Amino acid sequence: MRILGIETSCDDTGVAVYDSENGLLAHALYSQLGHQAFGGVVPELASRDHIQKLLPLVEDVLRQAGVTRNALDGVAYTAGPGLAGALLVGASFARALAFGLAIPALGIHHLEGHLLAPHLEGDPPPFPFLALLVSGGHTLLADVAGVGRYRILGESRDDAAGEAFDKTAKALGLGYPGGPAVAQAAAQGQERGITLPRPLTDRPGLEFSFSGLKTAVLRVIGEGPLTASRRADIAYAFQEAVVDTLAAKCERALELTGHTRLVVAGGVGANQRLRARLAEAAATKGARVYYPRAAFCTDNGAMIAYAGSVRFAAGARDTAALGVRPRWPLSELAPP
Ligand code: KG4
Ligand code: ZN
Repeated sequence: MRILGIETSCDDTGVAVYDSENGLLAHALYSQLGHQAFGGVVPELASRDHIQKLLPLVEDVLRQAGVTRNALDGVAYTAGPGLAGALLVGASFARALAFGLAIPALGIHHLEGHLLAPHLEGDPPPFPFLALLVSGGHTLLADVAGVGRYRILGESRDDAAGEAFDKTAKALGLGYPGGPAVAQAAAQGQERGITLPRPLTDRPGLEFSFSGLKTAVLRVIGEGPLTASRRADIAYAFQEAVVDTLAAKCERALELTGHTRLVVAGGVGANQRLRARLAEAAATKGARVYYPRAAFCTDNGAMIAYAGSVRFAAGARDTAALGVRPRWPLSELAPP
């Protein structure tokens, strides 16, 4: 089965072709840069950019894959969660294309795409596993028994880890998206007496909270002039605080579930310091960590094409109604 995947939930337009026999044939991504001036994603601008980029990206990906659109067996698209307008562009495009080609369409849960992304790699993690999903919109730990079998063990009560990176970057004047910018600044920094909280690590449970950390960063910024070296030190202390917190919760979750595999997905999973700390944490529990390649940690079309291929293969199809779900709890999914 050859599946076209379309991702438009936020500010990245991602398109890919996945073949259930030959794997990923091609993928392309357009990352919208117009939001930088606003320090965050502007939903209306995101929708307009998706409209302009989708068709050329699909043509590009089909050319790269060396297949014509008539060789497609299905179109999978992100149906939620995400920005309503952005999702609707992808859903309308995917549904219209599928209708025109007389092939089925299928709406995919964005977080399922992220969770299954390591399956695009050569040495995929067998089920069951523990998953840490750390993106701009979500931070959660899930017990993954199989496709569509997700038990949420803990989530963020407020900001997501990626959101905390983005807000810290903004407060430090480091631009958007904040994750890579903070990581880059942190590489030049040291702890130098800046102490930041590791939220909720002193309490039992697997919940997260990152909004207090952001407030603590703002307080530290207010303590003195923000020179380049001070900025680097604050970025360093912030990154350590987030990474320590995530690693502590993963260690706890591995212990509670007894899983020996930890899958890390979502944009923050691209963070090198996090990867190093999770490797240590997993080692203490005799567990192994799996990641998708960096390009498939952040939003992309390949993960949607892959999740689509798995669900299509099991017979899943969209109903006649066109709809998206800007809010869509992962726990509502069922096996195909
Ligand atoms: O998964 P993703 O591309 O989009 C969502 O579904 O949200 O994640 C984007 C988030 C942003 O908050 C971005 O700042 C963060 O991932 N991010 C990083 C890094 N690369 C991206 N955070 C920390 N370190 C990175 N290297
Ligand atoms: Zn995402």
